[in-house]
Amino acid sequence: MASSDDERPRARGGAPPGAAPVLTASNLLGRIGLDAAGCARRLTFLSFDAADVENLAQLRAVAHANVDGIVEDFYGHLLSFEETRRLLADPERVARLKKLQREYFLRMLEGDFGHDYFESRLRVGAAHASTDLRPEWYLGTYSLYLRLLGGRLLEHYRDEPDTLLALLGSFTKVVFLDMGLAIDGYILSGYVDRTLAQDYRRMAEVAEQALAEKADLEQAKADLTGMIVHDLKGPLGGILAVTQLALRQASGAPSDRHFAQIQRSAQDLMRMIENLLEIDQMQEGRLELRLEPVAIDGLLAECSAEYRAAAEIAGMTIAVAIEAPLPVLMTDRWLLRRVLNNLVVNAVRHSAAGAIDLAARLAGAQVEIRIHDSGRGIPSADQAALFDRARRRRGSHREDTGLGLVFCKMACERMGGTIAIESTPGSGTTFVITLPAEASL
Ligand code: HEM
Repeated sequence: MASSDDERPRARGGAPPGAAPVLTASNLLGRIGLDAAGCARRLTFLSFDAADVENLAQLRAVAHANVDGIVEDFYGHLLSFEETRRLLADPERVARLKKLQREYFLRMLEGDFGHDYFESRLRVGAAHASTDLRPEWYLGTYSLYLRLLGGRLLEHYRDEPDTLLALLGSFTKVVFLDMGLAIDGYILSGYVDRTLAQDYRRMAEVAEQALAEKADLEQAKADLTGMIVHDLKGPLGGILAVTQLALRQASGAPSDRHFAQIQRSAQDLMRMIENLLEIDQMQEGRLELRLEPVAIDGLLAECSAEYRAAAEIAGMTIAVAIEAPLPVLMTDRWLLRRVLNNLVVNAVRHSAAGAIDLAARLAGAQVEIRIHDSGRGIPSADQAALFDRARRRRGSHREDTGLGLVFCKMACERMGGTIAIESTPGSGTTFVITLPAEASL
């Protein structure tokens, strides 16, 4: 039998955005590759035979007499659960559904399980998938049919338990046939793919949110650290100013040495703070170069003068060797000076005694500055990590914060140049800076 619902292409209304494409009648069986032989095979698997057809015919009388009550009880049950009630808010829809439900139920007892029957059951499954009714609610509802019809049958066959069992057994086979086709209908409508896609989307949203929160937190931490580091410059500047004053009025008293020591420590601290702040600025692309003509020989002389006392205390000498002619570069004087300061402090700290040589020359299109110490040298396996911030964080070898060389590399690159290391354990270390000479005057 072909009921009126066979002609309608799919459930009306209620289909969410992204729902399955319209499923036209008479094409679903083909789409799951279910031909006449396949349909017959399903019935055989359910052990459906002529006796069942007879049993269904016997059931029809009771079913027709009770169908209205069964349908009422059916929707009474669905309206008592939040998950199913939400789809039945419109009384007109419920009235329409009751009529369709009546046809659906009675058709189960017709005994005509041909192509049209299979097709219509697939479509009803697909129609429910389009309303986004989860399959457990839809499939669970089939048990209602058994309970509602079973109760009515009991009234008729109370004294014939064998008949009652046989009738219910045949009806149960149809229920399971319909449930199987309902599942196929859900799969055909793309419900599984849609649900998975929704789950993945939700998971992606949760992950994105967690990442955004983590990034916010890290930013807040970085901002706070930056602020604290920046604020340290104030009191440190105060200490430097006072020690400077005290050293200017030096009288040869033993306290002078202490002041000089305090000044060196405060300068070290200031240098580390500036490294940190400028690394952050360079990483965020905020460090503007202040270009001006810079004579490299003068800059190296200034640098060696600044650290000569510290070097002498450590039993070292600092020498500057310039190979003329050396062009005047257009670069950031303050930044380059800070790179040199870092490298010279490094050299003083890591050479037990001996000489620190600062040299500069023109090498093709580059100005090359070399800072050599006669310290213990750095094994080549450790050299790559020296300029890498992430690796410095894990274990610093040559400096307190481990960030001096990271700063030097970033600053040299910011000025359009490079920095490299040449070192052999036992015979000292040379840092080689190159800066483009074409940026010269
Ligand atoms: C044994 C279980 C069920 C059967 C046999 C059944 C039967 C049907 C039938 C025959 C249709 C018409 C399909 C079409 O348009 O071709 C339909 C549609 C529908 N059913 Fe069910 N149904 C069942 C369970 C449920 C449940 C649990 C709900 C939950 C509230 C539900 C809600 C709906 C809705 C919202 C529609 C679409 C109505 C529309 O077209 O506006 N059904 N059902």
